[in-house]
Amino acid sequence: MNQKNLYKIDKDISIARTLDSSFYNDENIFKTLVTDIFSSTWQYGLHLNQIRNKNIYPINFLPETLSESITFTREDDTINCISNVCTHRGHIICDSPKKGNALKCRYHGRVFNLDGKMKNAIGFEGAKNFPSVNDNLNHINYKNWNNFLFFSLNKTYQNLSVLSDIDRRLPDFPFEKLYFSEQLSNSFEINTHWAMYCENYLEGFHVPFVHKGLAKEIDNKSYNTEILKNSVLQYANKQDSEKDLYAHYYWIFPNLMLNFYNWGLSINVVEPISINKTRVNFFTFPIDGIDFIEDQIKDLIQVELEDQQVVESVCRGVKSRFYSSGRYSPRHEKGVHYFHQLLSKILLKNISK
Ligand code: FES
Ligand SMILES: [Fe+2]
Repeated sequence: MNQKNLYKIDKDISIARTLDSSFYNDENIFKTLVTDIFSSTWQYGLHLNQIRNKNIYPINFLPETLSESITFTREDDTINCISNVCTHRGHIICDSPKKGNALKCRYHGRVFNLDGKMKNAIGFEGAKNFPSVNDNLNHINYKNWNNFLFFSLNKTYQNLSVLSDIDRRLPDFPFEKLYFSEQLSNSFEINTHWAMYCENYLEGFHVPFVHKGLAKEIDNKSYNTEILKNSVLQYANKQDSEKDLYAHYYWIFPNLMLNFYNWGLSINVVEPISINKTRVNFFTFPIDGIDFIEDQIKDLIQVELEDQQVVESVCRGVKSRFYSSGRYSPRHEKGVHYFHQLLSKILLKNISK
């Protein structure tokens, strides 16, 4: 079959087939898509409170694939997101969060202001046309939404329009009372493809089969999936409650999950490592003053471990010579179908290059 046909996803879910398994198994497709998608979309960075005391916060974005070193800096109310690579010979300037009023490269001592402007370069007496704008650190686009900072290496993909939907649906969510809990946050390395992790998140179809504990907490009949722009929202009522929502689960293309609970917000960031390996960071933001959050997190981790087992199994399964693609449940897998359409669009654009 023509390669393009393998990755075309019919808009009509009732006749569509899922992505061909070569999508998950092909190293070149993995590399091309990770580079295209992750360098053009907005990505989660950190919470403003994380740069309150230590005002310099470096991020090694996708260390195994894109490996782009950037840093957020704060000077009073001014925030900057800049390259963390020295403009002299390319040393990484800052390794870990710290407090300071300048950035100093330890290789040959070049100093930059917190806005990235080169301040001082020892030993460059006699260098002509120096310094120039090329000696300053590059600025990286960032956005602040309710004190959460997002960045984009190349802001061509507008994947954050859904944030206004969150503001509209959750007008009373106490963003100002959230605090980042490092102790309740987690990071997992999973033997699966990053897209499989997202696909699993995008359907509640598996909940009664895989999450026996969670299935008792939510009313599965009330489970709903809404397709938004570059985003999917899922929600369900609490068991035995007609109006109390258990959670709002927002997935934002390509790799971000914002899970709103009555105790706070859990942010999941999915990081591709290889076709068989994915890191998922769970950043936990409890609402100040709410107790017994440890129990809630314990339940979340239980659900997470159950999810990890199935996505690891799928990653092995799609390598079978007897599997190529499957069908979508029109009732339960709208979210997966939408995700595949977004991936397919980018994939087909790259194939025809
Ligand atoms: S590489 Fe930074 S001062 Fe030389
Ligand atoms: Fe799950």
